[in-house]
Amino acid sequence: MTDSARRLALDALDRIERDGAYANLLLPELLGRSSLAPRDRHFATELVYGTTRMKRACDFLVDRFVARELDLRVRNALRLGAYQLHFLKMPPHAAVGETVEIAPKPARGLVNAVLRRVADAGVEWPDDGTRLSYPDWIVDRLQRDLGERSVDVLERMNEAPRVTERADGYVQDLASQWVAEAVDAQPGERVADLCAAPGGKAMVLAATGATVVAADIRKGRVGLIRSNAPGLPVLAADAARPAFRPGSFHRVLVDAPCSGLGTLRRRPDARWRIDAAAPERLAAVQRTLVDAAVKLLAPGGTLVYSACTLTDVEGPGIAEHLVSGDRFTVLDPPGNGPWEAMGTHGCRLLPHVSDTDGMYLLRLRLT
Ligand SMILES: C[S@@+](CC[C@H](N)C(=O)[O-])C[C@H]1O[C@@H](n2cnc3c(N)ncnc32)[C@H](O)[C@@H]1O
Repeated sequence: MTDSARRLALDALDRIERDGAYANLLLPELLGRSSLAPRDRHFATELVYGTTRMKRACDFLVDRFVARELDLRVRNALRLGAYQLHFLKMPPHAAVGETVEIAPKPARGLVNAVLRRVADAGVEWPDDGTRLSYPDWIVDRLQRDLGERSVDVLERMNEAPRVTERADGYVQDLASQWVAEAVDAQPGERVADLCAAPGGKAMVLAATGATVVAADIRKGRVGLIRSNAPGLPVLAADAARPAFRPGSFHRVLVDAPCSGLGTLRRRPDARWRIDAAAPERLAAVQRTLVDAAVKLLAPGGTLVYSACTLTDVEGPGIAEHLVSGDRFTVLDPPGNGPWEAMGTHGCRLLPHVSDTDGMYLLRLRLT
């Protein structure tokens, strides 16, 4: 019964908005407790993720026909209806009729009237931020840093991600798999993964036969590394003050905490959570982490810095910070994906080209 799928979706939207629940954690929990058929689970997922991503656009579609403040559940029912009509192109009799059924009783007349008008009216979007449903700061930021390609990137990050499973069954975006491979760890080498949780890349590194140590600052998340990569030496440690002997590693990976703007397809609510100051704030953290990481390298060792974001202050800004002087040779982009070279400033993946997360990568060899 798709009606139950819509009801589950409406409950999820309420909790995401009211309690700040994470869509990708809440939805599996709600689906786990439901008895929906597989087709309806798929539909509920599409409704929750899609309506969450397109919230700003849906509000625009609806607010043209609403003159008063709305209760949260009523607003979410209208968003859900507008999403089905405009983005899923569902026939109005299904999208409107069945959404009205799950709306709070006293508001059903209003929901019906507004959704019928949404179904009948055309739309003229006022700007890309509304049309593509992102906060203005993200649109402006990527426009500034990526130029006209930003629209393609923003459009692609409104689509559901491709799910890629590794040979060992672990689900990991290809961009992350390519970063782990690009560390190029060799059997017998000592490799440190300083920001390792939940351990996705550490598992790939360990499988090379290198001697890998994995660390993360968050104790809770260190447990995730232990369960994902049993047997790997793991510790809770701040990468700004690494607990390792200077000069003791052949390769060091800093898969840095970042603003995450490259991962918005996989995290439907993230665009509404990340604050505009995040790129600068996290770039400052990243500079500290890479500076500390360099000290751990043995002569000739390789530093690999990656960030799943697309801003210039992270990524290329960190390269600029590091690549002054002649301490390093910048390695070429790896051949394992459509990495776009940025000269001495590393390389990146753009989601609409690679069909992966947006990702930045820099590989430096200590001379
Ligand atoms: C992008 S995630 C790492 C993902 C991981 N490499 C993987 O592939 O599964 C960044 C990680 O950096 C950790 N982190 C943030 N600040 C840190 C610090 N100062 N030292 C060590 N880890 C830190 C976060 O807890 C988070 O787990």
